[in-house]
Amino acid sequence: MSALTPLIAGNWKMNKTRAQAEEYIQALLPAVSSVDAVDVAICVPFTALEAMVDSARGSRVEVYAQNMHQEPEGAFTGEVSATMLNDVGAQGVVLGHSERREHFGETDRALALKVPAALAAGMTPILCVGETEGERDNDDTDRKLRQQIKDALAGVRDERLAEVVIAYEPIWAIGTGRVASAEQAQEAIAFIRALVGDRDSSAAEKLRILYGGSVKPENAAELMALKDVNGALVGGASLEADSFAQIVLAGAG
Ligand code: 13P
Repeated sequence: MSALTPLIAGNWKMNKTRAQAEEYIQALLPAVSSVDAVDVAICVPFTALEAMVDSARGSRVEVYAQNMHQEPEGAFTGEVSATMLNDVGAQGVVLGHSERREHFGETDRALALKVPAALAAGMTPILCVGETEGERDNDDTDRKLRQQIKDALAGVRDERLAEVVIAYEPIWAIGTGRVASAEQAQEAIAFIRALVGDRDSSAAEKLRILYGGSVKPENAAELMALKDVNGALVGGASLEADSFAQIVLAGAG
């Protein structure tokens, strides 16, 4: 693990009513209160944002959204802007998750606007990138990552690059139980860091890159110990406060 403070973020996806979210946070807060070498975020549905911000206030747990629109306001039925997320106290937002790319037509072009819009609103963007199984089999992983990183970060000024968090999530490892090997995760994440370094070498040293895809309490410590890995984006195993807390503890080393 490098000198950067790791970030362990739980992506709840489309799960939990407000009552379920409240029960969860009341279990999570005491479980992570004594950990101080790691940043913790839960990425919750819009409907739970305000309640989770209130319940997490004063704790080390930050509350992030899972998507936003790039424009501050306007005729975009069903969408939510960075200004609105900021208004309810969200401290960050997941952008470009593969599920949004696959099911909702999220494009690198939209991300090129969303990432700077999140930064401008004072929120931490977690930009998700990753290859499909077919792309990996065809040795196309580097090309895919290069394109996603280049396009999505095109609108971010060099001075602000280090504030972006990137999550490397190989699509074949999401929700499948097929975690990337330590070697695969380290190689891809080092490659992403080098891509950012092509833009700005000092930002590349300061920027946090997470691994995501079937992270569990049993494999978290090995992944978090990898040289270029600065934390995790956790899906299924973040839905129980107990298992998420164990991953947070693994992140603290
Ligand atoms: P799983 O941890 O369930 O594989 O999901 C990963 C993910 O998509 C986090 O954003």
